[in-house]
Amino acid sequence: MGALSTDNLLLFFFHFFVSFCFYSSSHSQQEPAVGYGYKVQSINVNPSGKSLIAKLQLIQKSSIYGPDVQNLYLFASFETKDRLRVRITDSDHQRWEIPQSIIPREPDHLSHRAMPEDNQDPLKAYQSQPESHVLSLEGSDLLFTLHATTPFTFTITRRSTGDILFDTLPKIVFKDRYLEISSSLPAGRSSLYGLGEHTKKTFRLVPNDTLTMWNSDIAAANTDVNLYGSHPFYIDVRSSSSNITNPPGVTHGVLLLNSNGMDVICGGSYITYKVIGGILDLYFFAGPLPLSVMDQYTELTGRPAPMPYWSFGFHQCRYGYKNVSDLEGVVAGYAKAKIPLEVMWTDIDYMDGYKDFTLDPINFPADKMKAFVEQLHQNGQKYVVILDPGISVNDTYDTFRRGMKDGIFLKRNGSYYLGKVWPGPVHFPDFLNPAAAEFWAREIDIFREILPVDGLWIDMNEISNFITSPPLNSLDDPPYKINNDGVRRPINNLTVPASALHYGNLSEYDVHNLYGFLEARATHDGLMKSTGKRPFVLSRSTFVGSGKYTAHWTGDNAAKWEDLGYSISSILNSGLFGVPMVGADICGFGGDTTEELCGRWIQLGAFYPFARDHSAIGTNRRELYLWDSVARSARKALGLRYRLLPYFYTLMYEAHVRGAPIARPLFFSFPEDVKTYDISTQFLIGNGVMVSPVLNQGAVSVDAYFPKGKWFNLFNHSQMVSSDFGKYVTLDAPEDAINVHVRGGNILVMQEEAMTVQLARQSGFQLLVVLDEDDNATGEVYLDDGEVVEMASKESQWSLVRFSSAIEDKDVKVRSEVVNGTYALNQKLLIEKVVVLGLELKETPKMATIFLNGMQVCGNSEVSARYQKNGRFGVAEIEGLS
Ligand code: NOJ
Repeated sequence: MGALSTDNLLLFFFHFFVSFCFYSSSHSQQEPAVGYGYKVQSINVNPSGKSLIAKLQLIQKSSIYGPDVQNLYLFASFETKDRLRVRITDSDHQRWEIPQSIIPREPDHLSHRAMPEDNQDPLKAYQSQPESHVLSLEGSDLLFTLHATTPFTFTITRRSTGDILFDTLPKIVFKDRYLEISSSLPAGRSSLYGLGEHTKKTFRLVPNDTLTMWNSDIAAANTDVNLYGSHPFYIDVRSSSSNITNPPGVTHGVLLLNSNGMDVICGGSYITYKVIGGILDLYFFAGPLPLSVMDQYTELTGRPAPMPYWSFGFHQCRYGYKNVSDLEGVVAGYAKAKIPLEVMWTDIDYMDGYKDFTLDPINFPADKMKAFVEQLHQNGQKYVVILDPGISVNDTYDTFRRGMKDGIFLKRNGSYYLGKVWPGPVHFPDFLNPAAAEFWAREIDIFREILPVDGLWIDMNEISNFITSPPLNSLDDPPYKINNDGVRRPINNLTVPASALHYGNLSEYDVHNLYGFLEARATHDGLMKSTGKRPFVLSRSTFVGSGKYTAHWTGDNAAKWEDLGYSISSILNSGLFGVPMVGADICGFGGDTTEELCGRWIQLGAFYPFARDHSAIGTNRRELYLWDSVARSARKALGLRYRLLPYFYTLMYEAHVRGAPIARPLFFSFPEDVKTYDISTQFLIGNGVMVSPVLNQGAVSVDAYFPKGKWFNLFNHSQMVSSDFGKYVTLDAPEDAINVHVRGGNILVMQEEAMTVQLARQSGFQLLVVLDEDDNATGEVYLDDGEVVEMASKESQWSLVRFSSAIEDKDVKVRSEVVNGTYALNQKLLIEKVVVLGLELKETPKMATIFLNGMQVCGNSEVSARYQKNGRFGVAEIEGLS
């Protein structure tokens, strides 16, 4: 035990006092759970005050779910001022935890070792403290309190307000294959979001819900069951109360970094994690805004990958395209109907016998396919194909032979595991093996020599298996049955069995949820190597951190009105999980769609970050040109999307540098407005563009909520609402119309609509300056060539220009500040038009002056242009002046 300095001593007494108070206030109502939990043997605090280790000892054995772990370590540490980690693990045995190579974490000398190395005393650098302890850090709003009660508990508190964010119940269970921890939550004051992937009827999680995480090929059309991805992360938006003084909307985030299967029970007044392996590794993100939580979350888990500019165009896909002429017909159909088409896709139909990296010699022969892709490229369009992880077991198949030679397949019971997917019997590459990633990259490259695809779509990677293998050992049948598929189905159901063995002797039991992540990483890296460009990968299965490699679609929804509505919660969730490039299958995947549904779906889908029409084999076709009314809706909605492309792309940049979702719930911009917490039928694109779609059959109006401010219709610029408080407004929504509004205070950088992204990018820029109540507005635009590997790197050319607008001497003054101008330097990027909305001057100004230094200027020198039709910047239009 080290000596305490006077300062430390004072701090300690302060902490102890605080901790005592918190303990008494938060725990006085709770019955001690006799027979469960651990007690503190000793607490050792690092003299830095940033971390502590507690030795914990089991109080009493329990009989269910296997023997208890006797001794635990609890490490608590401030990894940054906004991130606190609490990690609980077996002190005597190494346990599975997600490797650094998958999610790099803080290189704290203690925090990542399950076990201290033999000759190192883990407590050496620490000093013993008696009893309870509070950990704090200067500048941090978080406090960690370890209550050395029997059983022990801990709390995470927001220092500035005293709000208790996480408050564990005494019952902590730690067994080899069953971990349990609970926290109480302030019922009614806590709004939780996240914990996916599930299709949910509402974005806000409802009380008494069990959220299961075990990656499965369960169709997204099923609500409330575990789907393709696992993200044990939630944000908690707190309303105020009589004793918590903060304004409503103060938000924090909680991640349980664990890849094992689990059930998370959201009780309303508590949250309980029931996990079937790994360790309890909790991260708390201080916020206090939803956007700051996203920044803090993706700082740890990885920033979302930049997506190529072209991927923000419209995509067309279908399972069941028959041959090359079918594909050509679709491309021609779009051109004829004058509906933008950026990317043509092909599902498994293109393959020879469903074998990856092959082409069907009859229907999709290499020469015709090559010519087809060449034509697409000449049109300025792109091509993406699907890949499945299962490699057909077939000695005449080169990819299989090379995989066997490299020895990269997943094993079970001493031999390669034999699964069954589209091609029949398959082996699965074991992406934990670095040689598998090399194999995959090589196959991608060989295939791209035959067909230069621009992006890759990785499906069935949960892993989906058409057979369920009989159990082999206890891993296949853990004592606690998670609520797989909503009916506690065995975890081996239609996937690779848990007893399968990965590289490094890791069991599928532990790494199951990582497969899609690892395949996405290998695909991302392989594609980048092959093209030398920014890769576009779309993955069905995801895990924490997948966003740094891949986009995501929400899986197999149904062509039903309900699914149209649920798609909003699903895309918002993906944004929370750090995978901002997301969309749902437009017009619905399964079942026959209808003209009306498809029309409404493209109106909404045009504003998904990732906009792709996709459908299942055997269903009716749903390309957007097939019905006149749908084509009209598509032209209108996609027309606006294409005009907003610089805005979408700038949001991609924001996502990449700060983790900000592209599609956001309303409360991200209006956290203080509690009425936004329950809204699942509208969403924002970025900060100030709001989409209010029709989600019901037959409806020709929408009841839309408008948070406070001035809102303008983005199609016709009419002002809809001006209010000091939020309010509901009934909006007209005739058949071909979608309501999209922009809020005062935003400057949107836009271009012209066009049939391709490439053409849209050649048009002049327009600034839509939407003034707020105080006649101010701000906005920014990020630009680069759209496919350079990194966004905003030192080596690459990129421009970031910030715009601000204010009224000075009755002139509208729009200023730009070039933060970085290396891209615009060599481009003719001209702002050709400025449109000002929301100007409420009593007398009409004689002349309005726009100060713009244009986007081609790399310094901050100010150039002014008079408001005139033929001015240097071609300012042709200023609306709202009279
Ligand atoms: C399942 C995917 O979710 C779906 O999008 C795809 O069309 C089929 N697999 C066929 O590849």
